[in-house]
Amino acid sequence: IPVQPFDLVIFGGTGDLARRKILPALFRRFCAGQMDAQARVIGAARAEMDDAGYRAFARDAIIEFDVDAASDAAHLEPFLEQLSYVALDAAGETGWDALQDRLAGSERIRAFYFSVGPSLFGDLAMRLHTYGLSNPDCRIVVEKPFGRDLDSARALNKVLAEHFTEAQIYRIDHYLGKETVQNLMAIRFANTLFEPLWNSQYVDHIQITVAESGGVGTRGGYYDKSGAMRDMMQNHIMQLLCLTAMEPPAKYDPDSVRDEKLKVIRALEPVEPRDVVRGQYEATDRLAGYRNEVGSRDTTTESFVALKARIGNWRWAGTPFYLRTGKRLRARASEIAVVFKDAPHSIFGSDAGRHRNILTIRLQPNEGIEMGVTIKEPGPGGMRLVDVPLDMTFSEALGPQAADIPDAYERLIMDVIRGDQTLFMRGDEVEAAWAWTDPIIEAWEAPGSEPVLYATGSSGPDDALALIHRDGRRWREIKP
Ligand code: BG6
Repeated sequence: IPVQPFDLVIFGGTGDLARRKILPALFRRFCAGQMDAQARVIGAARAEMDDAGYRAFARDAIIEFDVDAASDAAHLEPFLEQLSYVALDAAGETGWDALQDRLAGSERIRAFYFSVGPSLFGDLAMRLHTYGLSNPDCRIVVEKPFGRDLDSARALNKVLAEHFTEAQIYRIDHYLGKETVQNLMAIRFANTLFEPLWNSQYVDHIQITVAESGGVGTRGGYYDKSGAMRDMMQNHIMQLLCLTAMEPPAKYDPDSVRDEKLKVIRALEPVEPRDVVRGQYEATDRLAGYRNEVGSRDTTTESFVALKARIGNWRWAGTPFYLRTGKRLRARASEIAVVFKDAPHSIFGSDAGRHRNILTIRLQPNEGIEMGVTIKEPGPGGMRLVDVPLDMTFSEALGPQAADIPDAYERLIMDVIRGDQTLFMRGDEVEAAWAWTDPIIEAWEAPGSEPVLYATGSSGPDDALALIHRDGRRWREIKP
């Protein structure tokens, strides 16, 4: 279904995110017929450039980052026609009149994408207001990192709130735009099978893993000031945790969903130092270590974190959530595994061993669900048990439709135009997440505190294994 005509201004229009994600996502929506022929995309950045220059920039980006660009070549030129450019200084007065002219008289839905560092959010918000570019129905889109701790997140919320209402602010966490992450809600709340068992009475523990095989690459400058806790745990993993643990919202609408997520974050208990492991990858023969990659011999920034979280509420008391994420691990694999308790009594005797049902939701790659079920091993040798997977890979179950999974940004940008905030973070949610992560990060800032090392291509530091072994449990294998 096409969305209404819109004017989308991308501040930071020549930046990396615009190139890698925003422009290719818009192009794909254009190809899918969702972007109206009246819609306009206006790149805005400091560089001097004309419309033709910006179209050439967008063309290169789409060809580089859109795998289907070649097959959609016929759409490319008509799409580029809808793009234009304004040279503008976010922190000064240059170029704003030109933007004003560009938008004058337009009745379209207006959205402003702040694809710039958070230090410019205040400048942009203020100038959109003073130049009369904002209206009560316009939207602003802001990217992570939304602050680096509770104080800075509060300050950002405050500066945005001076000119925009909460209903106008779209804070992106691209994990919420992933199909399989939304599927988590469908699996939980559209089936009767799981929900009755989804609590501490039946669930022994839950593991959430977001493992990456890549290193920090060219993003060392940003990453070294953030680390895995700020880059992944406070936002992406927190969102996965919320969707896994929250109560069923009464409706699938923005505030019903976000109210429930917020309750989860607020119910998180402080993490004890012994329940957190912070790691950094070290070089192997094949690959450089973190310190080489970021060019600092003594950085203590973590590229891995594993921790045991507890949710102090009626549903989850006594069921730990083990969370881990890291770079340069054995494989790129993200999953949520719900490990059920042992059957209360084994009628097959102690020889039958320990068998458990595990429901695994694979987020990427190879998106799907797997349910580990215990059955009888075939053969005449008595009642021997074996665990087998009931495995459903979405692309096999759904056919070609599933092969064409849209990128998270396609979904999210269209939601901005539709005015649907369900998959965006609310200000109070972001603050609550920082309030929980801040003390963990502060403890690491103590003099002499160092991350433990792990080899590139491994499953993380040994201490992370010990963290869960101590509780008589084990991590799921990180496998390609
Ligand atoms: C980003 C982080 O938000 O998410 C990156 O800044 C990380 O460090 C990326 O690599 C992971 O996203 P995805 O979609 O590749 O799982």
